[in-house]
This record gives sequence, C-alpha cells and structure tokens, in this order.
Amino acid sequence: MLTLQTWIVHALFIFFTTESVGELLDPCGYIKPESPVVQLGSNFTAVCVLKEKCMDYFHVNASYIFWKTNHLTVPKEQYTTINKTASSVTFTDTSSLNTQLTCNIRTFGQIDQNVYGIRIISGLPPEKPKNLSCIVNEGKKMMCQWDPGRETYLETNFTLKSEWATEKFADCKTKRDTPTSCTVDYPPVYFVNTEVWVEAENALGRVTSDHINFDPVDKVKPNPPHNLSVSNSEELSSILKLTWINSSIQDFIRLKYNIQYRTRDASVWSQIPPEDTASTRSSFTVQDLKPFTEYVFRIRCMKEDGKGFWSDWSEEASGTTYEDSE
Ligand SMILES: *[C@@H]1O[C@H](CO)[C@@H](O)[C@H](O)[C@H]1NC(C)=O
Ligand SMILES: *[C@@H]1O[C@H](CO)[C@@H](O)[C@H](O)[C@H]1NC(C)=O
Ligand SMILES: *[C@@H]1O[C@H](CO)[C@@H](O)[C@H](O)[C@H]1NC(C)=O
Ligand SMILES: *[C@@H]1O[C@H](CO)[C@@H](O)[C@H](O)[C@H]1NC(C)=O
Ligand SMILES: *[C@@H]1O[C@H](CO)[C@@H](O)[C@H](O)[C@H]1NC(C)=O
Ligand SMILES: *[C@@H]1O[C@H](CO)[C@@H](O)[C@H](O)[C@H]1NC(C)=O
Ligand SMILES: *[C@@H]1O[C@H](CO)[C@@H](O)[C@H](O)[C@H]1NC(C)=O
Repeated sequence: MLTLQTWIVHALFIFFTTESVGELLDPCGYIKPESPVVQLGSNFTAVCVLKEKCMDYFHVNASYIFWKTNHLTVPKEQYTTINKTASSVTFTDTSSLNTQLTCNIRTFGQIDQNVYGIRIISGLPPEKPKNLSCIVNEGKKMMCQWDPGRETYLETNFTLKSEWATEKFADCKTKRDTPTSCTVDYPPVYFVNTEVWVEAENALGRVTSDHINFDPVDKVKPNPPHNLSVSNSEELSSILKLTWINSSIQDFIRLKYNIQYRTRDASVWSQIPPEDTASTRSSFTVQDLKPFTEYVFRIRCMKEDGKGFWSDWSEEASGTTYEDSE
C-alpha cells in the first residue's frame, strides 16, 4: 500500500510537473524573512507559509511542516503551527554564524518535499570605533586609523569623514585589505581646524566614533633630514661637524632634532642633549669626541613644539676625528 501511495505521489508529481512547468518552478511556499541577518545570542523566528495550491495537491496543511537546519531536523518543540497554512520555528540564543534553514512537508506517502530554503547569517553590530588618530606623512595625504572593536563576523563598512568650518570633504571609504585605516584623497591643508570621525556600518547597525579636531600641521611626520655629511677639523681633534639638508616641510614649520652617534664598533647610540638641537638648523658641531676615532651619526626631526611625529632616522653618515697634534 505504501509502495502504491509512493507511486501515486510520483505519478502525480510527474503529472504536476508536465502540466505546469512554469508554476512548479514556483516553490510550494515561502519563508519569511527571506534573507535574515540575526544578532548572535538573540532569538530568531521564521515563518513558513504554504501555498493553497500546494496544500490541495499534496493534501497537507501547516501541521505537516517540519524544519531542518543544515540538513538536520529541528526538534518539534521549536515549531508552532500558526494556522492552516503557516508554521513558525524559533531559535533561541543564536550562535551559529551561517545556517541553512529549510521548510519541508512530509506528504501522506512519507515523501519529504522541500518547500523553501533560506540562509540565516549571524553576527554582531559594529562597536563604536575607538582611538582614532591621524598622521600626515610629509609629501603624502593624511591617513587616519582606528580601533574597530570586536569582530562582527559580518561585512562592516568603515567611512572616514572630515570637514572644516566651511567645507565637507569627500568620504574616505576603506579598502577591503585595510579596513581600519583610510588615506583621504585631498592634499593636506595646514593651519585650519579639521574635524574627523569614523562611521562603522553593517547589516545590524551603524555607529559613529567620537569626533576629533586638530590642525593637520600638528600631525605631520617630516621626511628625515637628508645628505647628512660629517667633516673633521684639523685644529680640534675632539670635534666633528655635521651638515644636512632640511626636510622641505620647514617652509611651513620650525623643526627640532635628535642627533645620535656611536663609535664604529659600539652597538649603543649616545644622544646629543635635545635642548642643544631644539630649533631649525642645518648643521651641528659635536664636541668632546675622542681623537682619531671613527664615529657614526644619524639624525631625525619633528615639529619644534613637539606636536606631530618624529621623522624616521636619516641614513647614517660617518667621519673620523683628527689625530691629536700633541
Ligand atoms: C529568547 O527566548 C527565551 C525563551 O523563550 C527567553 O527566555 C529570552 O528572554 C529571549 N531572549 C531575548 C533576547 O529575547
Ligand atoms: C491539518 O490536517 C490534519 C489531518 O490531515 C487535521 O487533523 C488538522 O486539523 C489540520 N489542521 C489544520 C490547522 O487545518
Ligand atoms: C496564517 O498565518 C500567516 C503568518 O502569520 C499569515 O500570513 C496568513 O495570512 C495566515 N493565513 C490564514 C489563512 O489565516
Ligand atoms: C591607541 O592607539 C595608540 C597608537 O596606536 C596605542 O599606543 C594605544 O595603546 C591605543 N589605546 C587604546 C586604548 O587602544
Ligand atoms: C558596504 O559598502 C559596499 C560598497 O559601497 C556596499 O555595496 C555595501 O552594501 C555596504 N554594506 C553595508 C553593510 O553597508
Ligand atoms: C644629496 O644626495 C643625493 C644622493 O646622494 C645627491 O644626488 C644630491 O646631489 C645631494 N644634494 C646635495 C645638495 O648635496
Ligand atoms: C635649513 O634651515 C635653516 C634654518 O631655517 C636655514 O638657515 C638653512 O639655510 C636651511 N638649509 C637648507 C639646506 O635648506
């Protein structure tokens, strides 16, 4: 008998198929919501609604519905038959990130028919981005970075926004491989107060970081001084004179320096007292050195008032003090 019923179902199915191909491509029902994004840890309910035509055809109603997640049957206790056509299923404390959920009916011949399927994506809303900071590398455009907070498991877009009193700049959209930093596409404008913030958005929410205000000139990282050269003095065996070419940023800002030196075979650098190199210059005489000894030097610079960032160290340069004349 069972076999016969199965056969009938198959036969009917084929009949149904050939009768109305266009309509059969139509599913037997549908699930609401269609493409849910669910917050991890929250409860989620889906409803499957059968089409009348399908119910008549298979002689079923909503109490024949069973649900599966990732091909496993969901326990009956999680279903509710709402009315003749609709059944709902509820998941509490969602913890799976990506679940395939299907609505199925078991027909009188024990044949399982898939009615409809959806994919449940889970994740978390973005956290407020923290620790927003910006840097203007000399000769480049301003780059800002931030701490995005916890993992969201969802596509999360970050947009860096900036404006002055009179002008809004174009949004800076992060690239896929650097989601926590963005380089604006306008050249730096110095000596104006700029306001900057970040917006984070995904399917579960949108948040904005605190706004920060600054003059971009106070975020500069200069290029290091270059063409550092060392010359010795025939008269004084204890000194070497350094000269260099200032970074071109000094057209805008005054600089201070760190100068470090060591003997060729030493591994530890000594530093010239910073107060001796606290303003813009392009040479410095190092004193109290040992005669007839090779020294290696390097130099870096930053804005004189200490705002912004130290440059990288310059290339090293070396020189040898003159022999003691006795
Ligand atoms: C989820 O459902 C459970 C059981 O029905 C309930 O105790 C809990 O409060 C619900 N949680 C939320 C976040 O609605
Ligand atoms: C569904 O069908 C079954 C038997 O086929 C019947 O007992 C039940 O009352 C029906 N349910 C609804 C909601 O119509
Ligand atoms: C059954 O419930 C579903 C979902 O709540 C609703 O869309 C549908 O209209 C209801 N059907 C009937 C016949 O009441
Ligand atoms: C903020 O960023 C700076 C520089 O990247 C880092 O040193 C600091 O620890 C960060 N602070 C917090 C609270 O994450
Ligand atoms: C993220 O940005 C892309 C490209 O602009 C867009 O297609 C997508 O819908 C955005 N996603 C969210 C969650 O905002
Ligand atoms: C600085 O060094 C570069 C490369 O070593 C050289 O081409 C250039 O002429 C130097 N500039 C001056 C002003 O010495
Ligand atoms: C470097 O800066 C100092 C002070 O502004 C200036 O006197 C000197 O000419 C500058 N040197 C070069 C090579 O630009």
